[in-house]
Amino acid sequence: MKKIAIVNGPNLNLLGTRETDIYGDMSFEKFLKQLKKKYPKTKFSYFQSNVEGELINELQRVGADHDGVVFNPAGYTHTSVAIGDAIAAIKTPVVEVHISNVHAREDFRKLSHVSGKAAGSIFGLGLKGYELAIEWLLAK
Ligand code: DQA
Repeated sequence: MKKIAIVNGPNLNLLGTRETDIYGDMSFEKFLKQLKKKYPKTKFSYFQSNVEGELINELQRVGADHDGVVFNPAGYTHTSVAIGDAIAAIKTPVVEVHISNVHAREDFRKLSHVSGKAAGSIFGLGLKGYELAIEWLLAK
């Protein structure tokens, strides 16, 4: 059974109520239930934190024994050299996902410390982006 980790960064615990015009109205918990139903042969771990170091600890943890990581670093994408370094430090492939199209928004969202270290990036496709990342990781 393949093991896929989903890691969400700051404020993504508020999905479903946060800026719904940008991020939609579904909570991540509900979406995760749907994912688990859709991929019954995959073992998912899910971690969300608003704290930078906790995200780094989790990347190091899942980087040691998971087959892939779907990672939305949220606001830390644009600020965290340390999170980029953590991705570079682990062997497990990481797919960067953003719900919104970060390139169609404020200029500061165009910079990612993660894209250059990730296996690939998906943005602007809503929650579907997580599913596409999983498909790619499972096909690897
Ligand atoms: C986000 C985009 C980031 O710029 C923002 O800070 C987020 C969410 C996205 O999923 O679209 O918190 O990562």
